[in-house]
Amino acid sequence: MIWGRALPCTTRLVRDLAVRKMHVAVIGAGVIGLSTALCIYEQYHSRVSPLVIRVYADVYTPLTTSDGAAGLWQPYLYDKGNTQETKWNRETFDYLLDYVNTEEAERMGVFLQSGYNLLKEPAPAPSWKDSVLGFRNLTPKELALFPGYSYGWFNTALMIEGKNYLPWLMNKLKERGVQFYLKKIESFEEVVREGTDVIINCTGVRAGDLQPDPELKPGRGQIIQVFAPWIKHFILTHDLKAGVYTTPYIIPGSQLVTLGGIFQLGNWSEQNNSVDHKTVWEDCCQLVPSLKNAKFVTEWAGLRPVRSKVRLEREALTYGNTTAQVIHNYGHGGFGLTIHWGCAMEAAKLFGNIVEERKMRKPQSML
Ligand code: FAD
Ligand code: BEZ
Repeated sequence: MIWGRALPCTTRLVRDLAVRKMHVAVIGAGVIGLSTALCIYEQYHSRVSPLVIRVYADVYTPLTTSDGAAGLWQPYLYDKGNTQETKWNRETFDYLLDYVNTEEAERMGVFLQSGYNLLKEPAPAPSWKDSVLGFRNLTPKELALFPGYSYGWFNTALMIEGKNYLPWLMNKLKERGVQFYLKKIESFEEVVREGTDVIINCTGVRAGDLQPDPELKPGRGQIIQVFAPWIKHFILTHDLKAGVYTTPYIIPGSQLVTLGGIFQLGNWSEQNNSVDHKTVWEDCCQLVPSLKNAKFVTEWAGLRPVRSKVRLEREALTYGNTTAQVIHNYGHGGFGLTIHWGCAMEAAKLFGNIVEERKMRKPQSML
């Protein structure tokens, strides 16, 4: 039976009650999977009862790509004027900004950080100029600090350090009864057959293993972390020549300074290599020569899940008599921490549509 508009009073009462029992499987425990799980829980646990959320991942903090990332809020290298992504980036900034002056901020690994974007050629102001605090052009005196660069911006942004933020998210989820499984998922079918109603696909760069996606590519990066407590501002450089993405950056975190700038599209290697080490080290030392005195601490290579745009959409999957809904949320390139909460809210909105449809279609099961 399809429910029409004119509902009898008792039926309306039933519709206003919570939808009963939904099993949600989140695949992926990086910043995208954990934040999406939290956002769905926060928005729906009182409307869906019980709302059972399980997280499946074969890698957890501190070993995910989200842990290795420098953690700066800035859609660096990916400012392609996508208005939807600009909105999600800004929503994430505003969400995190609300935490900055709270005691929670330290546990979250969230703090304000100011710094420079340096250019060799003039460029239009970036999409995020009104999202950050105090965005302005560099003065000649500031540019004189960085020989070789003739243009640039200064602003205050945020740091979101995955090594703190992911454990914080996991603790919040554990407190709310979310269960975690260390498991590699081989197919969506396997999860659907276990009785899952909704799958949230947050598998990052490996999403193509579960469903082919020719658009998704690894954007390999390699970073060095050093102890250099005198570095107080981030410095990102840009090279606007077509196709040049390997360009140095220096980002001070709460303990260590991240030196980076490698971007290799299509390279699946997660091994550090000495050629990239030399490039990062020499380019960053040229930018800030005092780094030659910094103490080397560690090095890491990771894969950005690069796509022309984030895949955030819903799909129905049918296996035999069983149909489940999948919400895809992957392909956040080099801006996963920057955009995560806006995407989590969008995914939660798609989840809400599924909840509403269930109320309309299955009134008997709610009694
Ligand atoms: P991940 O963190 O990779 O998590 C994917 C999860 O999916 C893992 O838990 C994995 O185990 C799980 N998974 C995948 N397939 C399966 C399967 N079949 N079964 C079970 N589990 C599965 N972004 C910023 O915003 N700011 C930065 O400063 C920044 N710096 C970066 C620096 C470098 C060098 C790199 C490489 C990236 C950087 N990024 C930065 C980008 C950021 O790291 C990514 O966008 C982000 O981590 C993507 O998050 P994710 O949750 O999608 O993926
Ligand atoms: C990156 O290496 O992908 C990155 C560095 C700084 C800010 C954002 C992304």
